[in-house]
Amino acid sequence: MLVPPIELEARDGRRMRLRALTPSDAAAWRAHAVEWLGHMPYIIMAPDELPDLAAQKRMLEQLDPARGDLLCGLFDLSAGAEQIVGDIWLTPGARRKTRHVATLAMSLRPDVQGVGLGRAMLEHAIAWAQQHPEIERIHLSAMRDNHAALALYRSTGFTEEAHRAQAYRQPDGSYQDEVLMSREVR
Ligand SMILES: CC(C)(COP(=O)(O)OP(=O)(O)OC[C@H]1O[C@@H](n2cnc3c(N)ncnc32)[C@H](O)[C@@H]1OP(=O)(O)O)[C@@H](O)C(=O)NCCC(=O)NCCS
Repeated sequence: MLVPPIELEARDGRRMRLRALTPSDAAAWRAHAVEWLGHMPYIIMAPDELPDLAAQKRMLEQLDPARGDLLCGLFDLSAGAEQIVGDIWLTPGARRKTRHVATLAMSLRPDVQGVGLGRAMLEHAIAWAQQHPEIERIHLSAMRDNHAALALYRSTGFTEEAHRAQAYRQPDGSYQDEVLMSREVR
């Protein structure tokens, strides 16, 4: 299944392109993660926990949109087409009994948050999943205090199914509950 690129305009006028990442994007994608993950308290992975470049390249090589893999990067066109400022993933279950469910994750660099891009990326991913022959549901999870993400997910049709107490421990020793959400795509 083809993942068509789209152009998006942020509320502040910046123009972006959202397109499927390929193995040749591995270094730019890694640079985005290394630079920004440490500034995102509600993302689980720390920059020093990232797989190395070769492993990330292999991961991109193994993506199979026909199976339901979607991994798109958001490119800031004003900053040069190679600069990734956000990403969104849909990963279907690995087993026959779970591949009707895709798990969603997304992140945007702090300076492009709050201008409508997260909503546009998520709506694009949902629309893509709706056209996929096998994906029936999208699952995701977020930290309890991630109010921006929770508001975005609720307003795009996701409902809360459960909470897991103290699922995350922040570097300062405080805990965050995990909120499990899902949405049908059919
Ligand atoms: C969460 C995230 C993806 C949202 O994307 P975004 O581009 O900032 O959000 P948008 O500007 O598209 O806003 C979408 C909705 O989110 C909510 N929202 C956005 N910023 C918010 C804020 N600071 N406080 C509360 N709600 C907020 C609003 O409901 C907004 O709806 P509106 O468009 O009607 O105003 C983005 O902020 C992000 O990447 N954060 C860091 C990483 C992260 O938390 N990822 C998700 C992990 S579960």
